[in-house]
Amino acid sequence: MNYLITFEGIEGVGKSTQIKLLHDFIIKSGYSSQIIREPGSTPFGEDIRNILLNSDHNITKEAELLLMFASRSALVDSILTNQITDFVLCDRFYDASIAYQGYGRGLDINIIEALIEHTKCPTPDLTFLLDLDPESGFKRKSSDKMDRIESSGITFFNNVREGYLKQADKNKSRIKVIDASKDLNVISNEIIEEFNKII
Ligand code: TMP
Repeated sequence: MNYLITFEGIEGVGKSTQIKLLHDFIIKSGYSSQIIREPGSTPFGEDIRNILLNSDHNITKEAELLLMFASRSALVDSILTNQITDFVLCDRFYDASIAYQGYGRGLDINIIEALIEHTKCPTPDLTFLLDLDPESGFKRKSSDKMDRIESSGITFFNNVREGYLKQADKNKSRIKVIDASKDLNVISNEIIEEFNKII
């Protein structure tokens, strides 16, 4: 059994908590599972992540997009094409590039879609989009110091949120939109319910 499940959403929506809860449920159900994140999860990808999030760098939007895909290409090559666990739970995947670099930064979605194909990204079996307004998301975030992308401003994050919702609308059977303002146990139950439908 090889399933790829991705989690998407802007900052502060509770992705990490929900990924951990689903991972624990999968393990308890007798399957194997691993959690990965993007950008990152390979030594090369983690180095790229540090560059991307470093506020000292002045990175063009085009370079930002290409660095996201450089990290993603390593992940596809090393983990996703040789998946050894029943489930891989990924904290963000290519939908994030459409939302952040496409709708957020205003880059051409056709180019992003071409990069998805070019880097041979598998289509996730299921994607959870945790949806929340950016003001509430940022209030929930505990760390005071914002990284380079988090410092992009409220208009940027409103556009990212819109982008995610449009992407969900175009991919209704794959992307499940979850209201992230709900109680975390209610959200977890909704996620497990959707998960049970695919296995
Ligand atoms: P995070 O994993 O701590 O949320 O940080 C990753 C940041 O990178 C987050 O602000 C979202 C952003 N990002 C993109 O802009 N495009 C992408 O394709 C991915 C995967 C993440």
